[in-house]
Amino acid sequence: MLVNSTQMLMDAVKGKYAVGHFNINNLEWTKAVLLTAQENKSPVILGVSEGAGKYMGGYRAIVGMVKGMIEDLGIDIPVSIHLDHGSYEGAKKAMEAGFTSVMFDGSKYAIDENIEKTKEIIAIAKNMGISVEAEVGAIGGEEDGVHGAGEIADPQECNMIANLGVQMLAAGIGNIHGKYPANWKGLSFDVLEKIKNLTGDMPLVLHGGTGIPVDMIERAISLGVAKINVNTECQLAFAEATRKYFEAGKDLEGKGYDPRKVLAPGFEAIKKTVKDKMEIFGSINKA
Ligand code: 13P
Repeated sequence: MLVNSTQMLMDAVKGKYAVGHFNINNLEWTKAVLLTAQENKSPVILGVSEGAGKYMGGYRAIVGMVKGMIEDLGIDIPVSIHLDHGSYEGAKKAMEAGFTSVMFDGSKYAIDENIEKTKEIIAIAKNMGISVEAEVGAIGGEEDGVHGAGEIADPQECNMIANLGVQMLAAGIGNIHGKYPANWKGLSFDVLEKIKNLTGDMPLVLHGGTGIPVDMIERAISLGVAKINVNTECQLAFAEATRKYFEAGKDLEGKGYDPRKVLAPGFEAIKKTVKDKMEIFGSINKA
């Protein structure tokens, strides 16, 4: 069932769990995430970065693929298609193409400009029933060409953006995209708590879900995090399983070169990763 992200995140805040946002890259990724969510009766958010959007042929191609799979595979849990780290233009294009949820990442702008642009995106989204995620304080690391320095968000600025009418708010609290360095200091829970106290029931978004220790994830959820983004961990699992297939020479056995065989171990590895995350996030049986 294709929906926006609003209700599933409000339910998550109330129920003190988080919905997983899993970035998709192709048909196998999409099918693996959708089937795992269905098997585990979990709501799910399909994240699409602008780079992945281009890679898959464009936003309309993705919407068509996701809608078709939902119908053909009988997916009846809540699913949203969400633009990840959208630019101002990208967010508009994704909305026109049928995305049900968009992130406008205005964190690179000064707060006044971030507010103005976020407001414009909200106005368009509201008319179309689309949910909006805004960001304050850049998330560290690099993702698809979008760089962030790992800032800690200002709680007052978070409150200003939250009050504009967004449905979810990403705030930098020391989290970064990709693998965490050995000297990572961990999440800033004191800042998260201040943001939570100011923003009330606003679903908070934790980017950079890969590699955050389980106890930190649980604490973040207890402080209002209701959406957790995971990308790199599925990529690592897929790459490892695929590498093992080739290293074992399986492509040279029989019809092992068939793409459906080549991609099968990676597909299963994504499914396992997604299920593990859903267990940690507490979203199983919440659909
Ligand atoms: P990771 O790649 O670190 O899991 O981060 C994903 C993310 O935050 C997508 O926006």
